[in-house]
Amino acid sequence: MIKTSPKPVSSSAIDNHVYKAFPNDLNAHHTVFGGLVMSICDRIALVVSERHSGKTCVTASVDSMHFRAPAKDGETLIFKAAINRTWNSSMEIGVKVLAENSFIGEERHIVSAYFTFVALDESHRPTEVPDVLAESNEEIRRYAEAEIRRNARLRTRKELKESRT
Ligand SMILES: CC(C)(COP(=O)(O)OP(=O)(O)OC[C@H]1O[C@@H](n2cnc3c(N)ncnc32)[C@H](O)[C@@H]1OP(=O)(O)O)[C@@H](O)C(=O)NCCC(=O)NCCS
Repeated sequence: MIKTSPKPVSSSAIDNHVYKAFPNDLNAHHTVFGGLVMSICDRIALVVSERHSGKTCVTASVDSMHFRAPAKDGETLIFKAAINRTWNSSMEIGVKVLAENSFIGEERHIVSAYFTFVALDESHRPTEVPDVLAESNEEIRRYAEAEIRRNARLRTRKELKESRT
């Protein structure tokens, strides 16, 4: 099969998805429930993967989900997601979440995570996806770093498999 031409990061990126936190979004510590944030991250990363691949995609794994700071009742969460790199059927999507006090315009970086999605064909089998055209310096850095994370994932999987045999 002929691989389709590389697609720019901007053609699938989500730059400014907002979610206003209300009291029913809070945990027992009165900060925004982390599972809610994870769920929104997964959804927007899914949309990025489906825009990029043009295929149905599933979440294969999540790496390095770091909760750097809590978000508070009444803050506005701002979600940003972009594709970093693709391989055969898999894609790494980076997600960043900011908490904004919308009254004074102050922002804090609260979450970063890397999701791996796999594109599926009509038979639900992994299928090839377009390469990423990394253009800006930041996109080029993310493209390079994604390969380092993938190699670490594969190395860990191999070592765990070997340790069990
Ligand atoms: C993800 C899934 C499709 C992979 O299928 P598989 O038969 O294991 O496929 P393969 O071993 O041929 O791997 C296919 C690709 O998935 C990647 N992959 C598989 N497991 C992975 C994992 N745990 N983390 C990251 N990537 C993974 C492989 O590296 C490979 O990437 P490549 O094609 O770019 O080289 C399958 O494991 C699955 O359906 N998982 C359940 C997904 C799900 O239900 N998600 C939650 C709801 S959306």
